[in-house]
Amino acid sequence: MCYAIPGQVKEIEGKRITLDYFGKQKKAINELNNLTIGDYVYAQAGYIVEKLPRDEAKEILVSWREIFFHLNDIDLKLSQSPQVKSVNSNIIPIIRKIEQGLSLDKSECLELLSLKDKEDMQIFFRSANLLRQKFHQNACCVHGIIEISNHCRRNCYYCGISCYNQSLKRYRMRSDEILSAASKAVKKYRFKALVLQAGEDSGLSIEELVSIVAEIKRKLSVFIVVSFGEIGIYGLRELYKAGARGILLRFETSNPLLYSRICPGHSLDSRIKLIREAKDAGYLIITGSLLGIPGQTNNDIINDINLAKELDAEMLSFGPFLPHPNTPLAKELPPDESLILKTLALARCLGQPDSSIVVTTAFETLSKEARYNGFLSGANSLMLNVTPLKYRPFYSIYPNRAHQNESLEEQIEDAALLLKSLGRVNI
Ligand code: 5AD
Repeated sequence: MCYAIPGQVKEIEGKRITLDYFGKQKKAINELNNLTIGDYVYAQAGYIVEKLPRDEAKEILVSWREIFFHLNDIDLKLSQSPQVKSVNSNIIPIIRKIEQGLSLDKSECLELLSLKDKEDMQIFFRSANLLRQKFHQNACCVHGIIEISNHCRRNCYYCGISCYNQSLKRYRMRSDEILSAASKAVKKYRFKALVLQAGEDSGLSIEELVSIVAEIKRKLSVFIVVSFGEIGIYGLRELYKAGARGILLRFETSNPLLYSRICPGHSLDSRIKLIREAKDAGYLIITGSLLGIPGQTNNDIINDINLAKELDAEMLSFGPFLPHPNTPLAKELPPDESLILKTLALARCLGQPDSSIVVTTAFETLSKEARYNGFLSGANSLMLNVTPLKYRPFYSIYPNRAHQNESLEEQIEDAALLLKSLGRVNI
């Protein structure tokens, strides 16, 4: 979003580019023509999305120079905050291993996920934040999400937009509405990455989805992530040709038995197969699971993190299950906030070091401090809701979604304040 900083091209090796941000080097993939050393670009999610006129970039960078180093310092100080003294001695050796970058065994992971003591948890979160700082410095990403349709043919027990929910008013945005929402986000608010999401909508053909993505790519410089459920590899390949480069598809749980209980009639294997196929087709993968689904154990959560890693996900999305009144799981309880933070922290410790970790809107719905605490427990990514306000209440996958009634301006202002207070920059 408007918080993004241009980088300068330092090295070009085919599609692989090295960018410089005030002395910090970052790698990105380039698909633009005519990129030369010295050019200024915006990159997001590891892809170059736009080249800027040099004068304009230099002017933007002048305004960032001082604040950039100041933010860096804030992040460094926060990540190196002193350790709490009175810690349960059992976790000290595990924390040492995390800090030395050693791998953790199952029993150590279980120990971390079952921590109850607040100070022990703080120590754990702090070590995950240190790792985040080590691999990402103060870089974070902010994506916008447009929920283009709430029609869904699936019957997932947890989801408020599943076909079970007969009382929900359904909508499908028209192409011109989608384009105008995308255009506002990219041109006015300078978002560099957009997620287009929908239920598995039988009324939206692959051709229609392809034409929406192609139109956005033709008119706007933006990284596009598609999140239309299990639309099949043919559809994904077509969308890739149209310019989509990321896919957001959670496997929901790595436990096949649990999966068949919450998504009756569907197979976990085919979902995972599609994520693997998407990776092979060139997509950047955003995946993860629901935390706190009835019957889930800490062991399942560790397997979820390991599966996301095995799927080579660039971005991890783990968020709480929140019961929706019009679903078969209405009477279940949501998980505790601490389980989410422990999972984000463990994902930071077990996952690929360069993966981003999202603070999900579901977590923000569960806890007002989700972003702040999540960002200090290993997370480094946010999504803002770019869906027109009139449609947002109907994308009710769970009730009372955070930011449901906030304008995009308000959301951006809040996010920028938070990122500044934590010393993060959108590069
Ligand atoms: N609580 C939390 N997350 C949910 N999702 C669907 N229903 C719920 C719920 N009740 C998540 C699923 C899905 C994503 C789009 O929304 O994980 O993949």
